[in-house]
Amino acid sequence: MVKPLKIVVTGASGFIAKNLRKYLSENNVELISISRNDFKNFKCETKIISKNYKEKNFLKKLQNSDALIHLVGIGKQSVNTDYDMINTELTAHIVNLSKKAKIKKIIFLSGLGVSSNTSLGYFISKYNAEKQIIDSGLDFTIFRPSYIVGKDDLFSKNLKKQIKSGEIIIPGSGNYSIQPIHVSDVVKVIFESVSKFNNKTIDLVGPDYVTFEKYVKLFSKGTKTKIRKIKLEEAYHNAIINSKSNFGIDDLNILIGNFKGNHKRLSKISDIEFKSVLKLLQSGRLL
Ligand SMILES: NC(=O)c1ccc[n+]([C@@H]2O[C@H](COP(=O)([O-])OP(=O)(O)OC[C@H]3O[C@@H](n4cnc5c(N)ncnc54)[C@H](OP(=O)(O)O)[C@@H]3O)[C@@H](O)[C@H]2O)c1
Repeated sequence: MVKPLKIVVTGASGFIAKNLRKYLSENNVELISISRNDFKNFKCETKIISKNYKEKNFLKKLQNSDALIHLVGIGKQSVNTDYDMINTELTAHIVNLSKKAKIKKIIFLSGLGVSSNTSLGYFISKYNAEKQIIDSGLDFTIFRPSYIVGKDDLFSKNLKKQIKSGEIIIPGSGNYSIQPIHVSDVVKVIFESVSKFNNKTIDLVGPDYVTFEKYVKLFSKGTKTKIRKIKLEEAYHNAIINSKSNFGIDDLNILIGNFKGNHKRLSKISDIEFKSVLKLLQSGRLL
């Protein structure tokens, strides 16, 4: 009998991790999932609760896994947790652990728009994390995702909340574009990457490149939601003075950044028929 794959997932309670753990469990992967808080585990899943990934005896449980999928990350800073601490330094710690535990491969989700030319704090923290992984000597795959959507993703939740209030706000013109990818495709690509795409950095983007305005209109189709454009100055002002505003500073930076990834390459190297998020929205099957 073939030995089942043994895979470690960090940030186990997050949106992508929940979807991924379900998919891996259905594919008979032996899972070791780590989270700061308690969570319900799937079959063949060992649960580890860890406050900071630094407890004693931690390493032993990860020993000789086939891959570690690092899904810890933040997209908003506070005085207690900043990008450097979580996106970069914790990744460096996880890379070290992976080496010590003789894990064969590390898979990481960075961000679309990350590059050596970036001047944005969020992207710099992800770039430095990428660098830790590339320089580690471990096999790796780094994905740079655009918006990953599905049931309960943050982006869709935010739009749904606005629809409930009767109005969706578009910062600025709304002419900047996004390249949404469905989470069910994302989990398949990540699973493929356990045995493929070695030492590659790949854009994780869907087949549609669509303006934010068009996306929002489709998203709210059939509801009585008013769509209102506000000046960018007002959107940034709200983000600066209210940490709970609809769009955080880096949400705005990423949107206005108007980044475009290479879906053709992703489609060519993987065995997946990618779903069009636009078609799912049009047919009412996304949410
Ligand atoms: N979703 C997207 O569209 C998208 C796009 C680009 C990149 N990404 C990247 O993909 C990864 C997963 O994203 P996601 O959408 O699943 O995000 P998410 O739902 O926010 O999950 C991230 C997880 O990181 C862990 N985490 C957060 N703060 C932490 C802290 N201070 N210390 C330790 N762990 C902490 C938490 O895991 P526990 O609660 O289990 O401890 C959290 O659930 C992130 O690195 C993100 O930057 C996502």
